[in-house]
Amino acid sequence: MKIYIRPYQTEDTQAILDIINHNILNSTALYDYKIRSYEQQKAILEEKISKNFPVIVAELGGNVAGFGMYSEFRFREAYKFTVEHSVYVNENFHGQGIGKLLLQELITLAKQQKLHTMIAVIDSENQGSVEFHEKFGFKTVGIIKESGYKFNRWLHSVFMQLILE
Ligand SMILES: CC(C)(COP(=O)(O)OP(=O)(O)OC[C@H]1O[C@@H](n2cnc3c(N)ncnc32)[C@H](O)[C@@H]1OP(=O)(O)O)[C@@H](O)C(=O)NCCC(=O)NCCS
Repeated sequence: MKIYIRPYQTEDTQAILDIINHNILNSTALYDYKIRSYEQQKAILEEKISKNFPVIVAELGGNVAGFGMYSEFRFREAYKFTVEHSVYVNENFHGQGIGKLLLQELITLAKQQKLHTMIAVIDSENQGSVEFHEKFGFKTVGIIKESGYKFNRWLHSVFMQLILE
C-alpha cells in the first residue's frame, strides 16, 4: 500500500494523540507520566506550526500511521539554526519504511529552512530508535545519565546529532 507523507491537518490530531498516549503509557520513548488530552495535543501541534515549524504525517490506506515534527532545541537566540525532532510510528506499522520516509522528509524540510543541525533526544533503552537514527548518519554526541525517572527506574538520554550540509 502506498504511503503518503503530507502536512498535518486538524483531523489527524486523534491518531497522533493515540500514538503519543500509547507511548506515554507503555514506553520510555516519552518522559511524560500522564496521558494528554485531545485539546493539549492539538495546542502543542498548533504552536509548532504557528512558529513555522513542520508537523507531517504518514498516511497509509486512509489512516495516519505515523508523524514527525521538529522545533526549537533550546530557546536562546543563538540556537536558532538547531532543531530537535521526533518521529513516531504506530507500532502496528513498524518496520514498513514509514519512519524512514518521515525522517527523510524532516531532513529535507530542515535543509530548505536553512537549518544547520538536527538533534534527537532518545531514551537509552530505545536502542531501535538509536539504530534507526544511525541509518541517517546521526551520531551519538552525549548521554545525560539519570536525567529521567519513570517506571521506578532512572533513565538516560542519548543525544544524537546530524549536521546538515
Ligand atoms: C523508531 C521508529 C520511528 C522507526 O520507524 P519504522 O517505520 O519502524 O522504521 P523503518 O521501517 O522506516 O526503518 C528504517 C530503517 O531503520 C531501521 N530500524 C527501524 N527500527 C529499528 C529497530 N527497532 N532496530 C534496528 N533498526 C531499526 C530499519 O531496519 C531500517 O533500516 P534500512 O533502511 O536499512 O532498511 C519507530 O520504531 C517508532 O515509532 N518507535 C517509537 C517512538 C520512537 O522511539 N521515536 C523516536 C524518538 S525521536
